[in-house]
Amino acid sequence: MNDAGPSFGLEDVTVAQTRLSSIDGEEGALLIGGYPVEDIAPNATYEEELYLLLHDSLPNAEELRDFQADLARRRSIPDEVASVVRRAAREGRPAMDALRMGLAAVTLSTDLGDPSATEAKALRVVAAMPTIVAAYWRFRQGADPVSPRTALGHAANYLYMLRGEEPSRSAVRGLETYLNTVIDHGLNASTFAARTVVSTESDIVSAATAAVGALKGPLHGGAPGPVLNMIQEAHDRGNCEEVVRARLDAGERLMGFGHRVYRARDPRADVLSAAAEEFYAGAGRENVFETARELEAVGSRLLAERKPDRRLETNVEFYTAVLLHGIGFPAELFSPTFAVSRVGGWVAHALEQKRNNRLVRPVARYDGAEGRTWTPIGERE
Ligand code: COA
Repeated sequence: MNDAGPSFGLEDVTVAQTRLSSIDGEEGALLIGGYPVEDIAPNATYEEELYLLLHDSLPNAEELRDFQADLARRRSIPDEVASVVRRAAREGRPAMDALRMGLAAVTLSTDLGDPSATEAKALRVVAAMPTIVAAYWRFRQGADPVSPRTALGHAANYLYMLRGEEPSRSAVRGLETYLNTVIDHGLNASTFAARTVVSTESDIVSAATAAVGALKGPLHGGAPGPVLNMIQEAHDRGNCEEVVRARLDAGERLMGFGHRVYRARDPRADVLSAAAEEFYAGAGRENVFETARELEAVGSRLLAERKPDRRLETNVEFYTAVLLHGIGFPAELFSPTFAVSRVGGWVAHALEQKRNNRLVRPVARYDGAEGRTWTPIGERE
């Protein structure tokens, strides 16, 4: 309880039934479409995992080919969206604002066929997200956007549109593993927002736009930027212990450590740690990976000393920062790239909600005034 009364965060309140992902916080286990995240994320393409979420089974080769083609042909964004994004970039708006603005307009000049074809809309949203983010980033660099290439897979094309050149296989694999790892994670705030919007029988573009708004908040996936700053500082100073101690002594939390749901290890941290290790081994880049590993060990040790009752280990965001930085993403694109992945979960949840809908309408406990009577404006003090 605080001065404003009790705070409600809906912890442990069940508000939906889903077959999309399952989290076991005690065991530190995550299933995506029934597969352990450790098994599926490093092996699948993003398209395979998206298909799994939408159809509840992995595609065979022919189904995958058709699905990839269907997704790829929906990538281009209309000029109107490009103009909005260019304006946002020129005005120095954050990338998530640009994404929200661009996504809201994405169905302009777009033939979705049958207006009731909700899966077509879902694919349109998923396909357009990387194009919007990449266009924004290109405008920010003072360059022109790069048109999508249908011959490239979803992850490869995203990197291609950002850089204007074909990415290496290891960069594509690293990004793909990241996108697959964070595509869905139970009823997080943005996914809940998407389901709530759809529960009013609104549409999937509106749901995804609301979800982008929810994801934009720093409490939802905003840690990788500060994590990278911490790792970079430790790397530059050549001393992890000093950097970690300084933060803890100042009463700060260590970014990238701890999790609300996982009481054991966050399994996504392991997947991304392995992906980052593999990526850095082949990349020959300045090795912040080794610093990250050392910082992880120092952070876990010092947190265990200071919070002996609580298991505080690295979470998904710690290795997100390491991996995406290695691939070459600037910190400003960490959240939009999270959205590029999580949109798969949003649309799958939206379709699931539509199939068995009930309006989401919780209640609030009233603690305001009662029994007031109307006073005309001229009689008020
Ligand atoms: N660094 C230092 N101390 C931490 C900590 C961290 N990263 N995470 C939790 N703690 C401590 C808290 O200070 C608190 O100590 P206290 O009881 O002495 O006050 C105790 O552990 C419990 O914290 P609480 O806030 O109740 O845990 P939570 O389950 O609500 O926290 C997070 C979950 C994610 C909000 C929290 O671990 C955190 O802030 N982590 C850093 C931010 C981050 O990485 N976020 C991304 C999550 S994917």
